[in-house]
Amino acid sequence: MMPIRRDVHPHLPPERIGDWHRLGPHVTHFVNALSIFFPAGERFFMDSVRNYRDQVDDPELKRAIAGFIGQEAMHTREHMLYNKLMDDAGLPASRLDGMVWKLLDLLRKILPKSWQLAHTIALEHYTAMLAGGLLADERHLGGSEPGYRQVWTWHALEETEHKAVAYDVWNAVIKPGPYRYFLRTFTMLTTTVTFWAMVFVFHVRLVMADKQCKHKLLGFGRVMHFLWGSPGVLRKMIPEWFDYFRPGFHPWDDDNRAQLARIDPLIAEIEANAIRHGASTRAPSVRAA
Ligand SMILES: [Fe+2]
Ligand SMILES: [Fe+2]
Repeated sequence: MMPIRRDVHPHLPPERIGDWHRLGPHVTHFVNALSIFFPAGERFFMDSVRNYRDQVDDPELKRAIAGFIGQEAMHTREHMLYNKLMDDAGLPASRLDGMVWKLLDLLRKILPKSWQLAHTIALEHYTAMLAGGLLADERHLGGSEPGYRQVWTWHALEETEHKAVAYDVWNAVIKPGPYRYFLRTFTMLTTTVTFWAMVFVFHVRLVMADKQCKHKLLGFGRVMHFLWGSPGVLRKMIPEWFDYFRPGFHPWDDDNRAQLARIDPLIAEIEANAIRHGASTRAPSVRAA
């Protein structure tokens, strides 16, 4: 599986940033909260793979690393634009994004490079699980505003396409044995606690800041049902989360590559949607953080 960098720019109508999901503003803000993690998070992933790039000899894996970095750079750009729409709507995206940068800069400073890569493979497993769940069931995004549905579907497809790259680097550069297993699984446990605690706080902050978002408490019930009941992306992730603790685990053990046939038609759809709205199919230049 060779990831390819694709310069994609879905059209996101700014007026829908707080209410683009079919199930309304609360579910919208849960997904928006995830978007806040990407600029700092994906920079961290790229850097922790880059740290080991020179130690990789396999030419195939070297090409895959280049594709992985290219894809994450495009995701970062589009999520910076996405998150700016939240700021423009009076939502505290930049402030929350600043918290993620601070945390990850601290990890960069205090953790050895192997630990940074361990965090990356754990979080890439998270993005792969979320992406796989989202792609497997149309109800996650179906009926939502097309541009927002497209940006998440595109991101999910490319996360699937490159889901094994950081992991293959890990296997190539970290000495096999009990310490490698400990580091991989221990990091998954700490990442799970930290990541979901932050998602929860960010979600609450977005919902509370959004004046259009009514019936705040009732709305959280709807989000719970969406995540744990039907379609239940988190409930369905549980076996895959445990699978990560299997000593011989590999991301492609869950073979969902058939989904990747959707990429080319989706890109055509993204361009057609932008043109239909008189919007550009090219991204404006953004300052990389
Ligand atoms: Fe990504
Ligand atoms: Fe990724």
